[in-house]
Amino acid sequence: MSKSVRETIEAISISPQSTIRQALRAINTGALGIALLVEPDSGRFAGLVTDGDIRRALLKGLGLESSVIDVPRPKSKTALLGTSPENLHHMFSDQVRVVPLLDEHEHVVDLAILNQRLRLPVAEPSLGERELHYVSECVLTGWVSSAGAFVTRFEEMVAACCGTQYAIATSSGTTALHLALLALDIGPGDEVIVPSMTFIATANAVRYTGATPVFVDSEEETWNIDPAHIARAITPRTRAIIPVHIYGHPANMEPVLSLAQQHRLYVIEDAAEAHGARYQGRPVGGLGDLAIFSFYGNKIITTGEGGMVTTSRSDLVDKIRLLRDHGMSRERRYWHTVLGYNYRLTNLQAAVGVAQMEKLDAILAEKHRIARLYTEGLRDIPGIRLPPHAPWAEPVCWLYSILVEPGRAGRTRDELMMRLNEEGIDTRPLFPPVHRQPIYHTGQNLPVAEYLAETGLSLPSAIGLRAEDIFRVVEKIRRFFSKSPLSRSALERNSSGNYAATRKVSPQENSCFPVFLWSQN
Ligand SMILES: Cc1ncc(COP(=O)(O)O)c(C=O)c1O
Repeated sequence: MSKSVRETIEAISISPQSTIRQALRAINTGALGIALLVEPDSGRFAGLVTDGDIRRALLKGLGLESSVIDVPRPKSKTALLGTSPENLHHMFSDQVRVVPLLDEHEHVVDLAILNQRLRLPVAEPSLGERELHYVSECVLTGWVSSAGAFVTRFEEMVAACCGTQYAIATSSGTTALHLALLALDIGPGDEVIVPSMTFIATANAVRYTGATPVFVDSEEETWNIDPAHIARAITPRTRAIIPVHIYGHPANMEPVLSLAQQHRLYVIEDAAEAHGARYQGRPVGGLGDLAIFSFYGNKIITTGEGGMVTTSRSDLVDKIRLLRDHGMSRERRYWHTVLGYNYRLTNLQAAVGVAQMEKLDAILAEKHRIARLYTEGLRDIPGIRLPPHAPWAEPVCWLYSILVEPGRAGRTRDELMMRLNEEGIDTRPLFPPVHRQPIYHTGQNLPVAEYLAETGLSLPSAIGLRAEDIFRVVEKIRRFFSKSPLSRSALERNSSGNYAATRKVSPQENSCFPVFLWSQN
């Protein structure tokens, strides 16, 4: 249990022998409108009393020194920890806004709260009625494996979004990378240039083929692979470059593509974190020979697990499909001409993907809204560096990520993360550079990637977060750096601008259970 959840529960817990005055004090401290009655010896939950119950009891003549147990109150609603969102959702009403979640010893370990979060997540999927509807269609029709109309529809939607001729759905972003490399016949003896500042999968996929990933440092301005360093890393064995559009900011593709052309190298974009981002007005995913996306649960859109290869190269598409499906000949069933894999996406997953693609613009608009609020709230704090935004880029806010420059800020990134954690605010450090990971450990010195990893953190960026949630994070950070507080209305006013996409996600689209939000431990 996180500290702030535990503290809140402790603050509102009183013995059933307490007076009404003590109950009111607890209600006041927790600001949730309730006090929990907890048996002092066993710690067992014995009921809850609301401020409304007490008001009515006082009007009926009970006094502040009366025992709280004498306050008439309806039977309390509780649920076991792990109760599904649907079931919790049905428990809420105008009268019931907080449901204590109990463990097997009947101790209160969490609180399901109507429309209020105790913990703010870095990322979470935005799944709604439409996902449910499409998945139900698969279940009802029995089309649950990789054959099925949603797979093709999902592929077509992603290809259209990237401006490519083809998109091939895969079981993950990692398998998409593996297939992209295999399609280019990359294997033992080859070298592939990758940024060190990336998620491990970029390098691992190269390793799966038997080729060697060669790590290159990042640019300070964009956090992405530095073309100047690519030039120096090219050898006669180099076959490809994988620029990663890290944290949603496009890599500087023009110099990468011109180096590739000069040295006859392939370019595979790793757009796992950058759905919808644009480079010089063109969507990522259609800029190199091939590109890949991830639809893991924390990504901008998700299929649970899932990935996609995009390309306009007709000479590669059949090969990728063949390798994705056990290398089975299209002409002859169960006839395998090459060593293939089962890297297919299921129709169930694609059904979720189609629903997610239908609201991609709205999700991106919500992410921009969050980014604008943070930028407005944090931009005057010395020593905090805001996320990059190159003039030629239209980044998307996968995770709003900042740097804490220890020399200027006076405090470290880790201290800030610790403080935010205590306040119920999730953060993530930026990726540790791959060249320092135990499985690679090249002994290189790549100062920008190392600096980013030491000073960078991602803040809560889930699209369900409201302005008041972002304001809460901003205020905690400002207080941590001894900056004066901002007014919330000024923050919202100054951060309201025109976004690339303007449609807002309606609560219904945003979640099957729009009123239900509870702390996530
Ligand atoms: C940059 C990058 N590349 C590749 C991947 C791999 O994607 P997946 O987790 O879907 O295999 C991820 C994310 O997880 C990523 O962030």
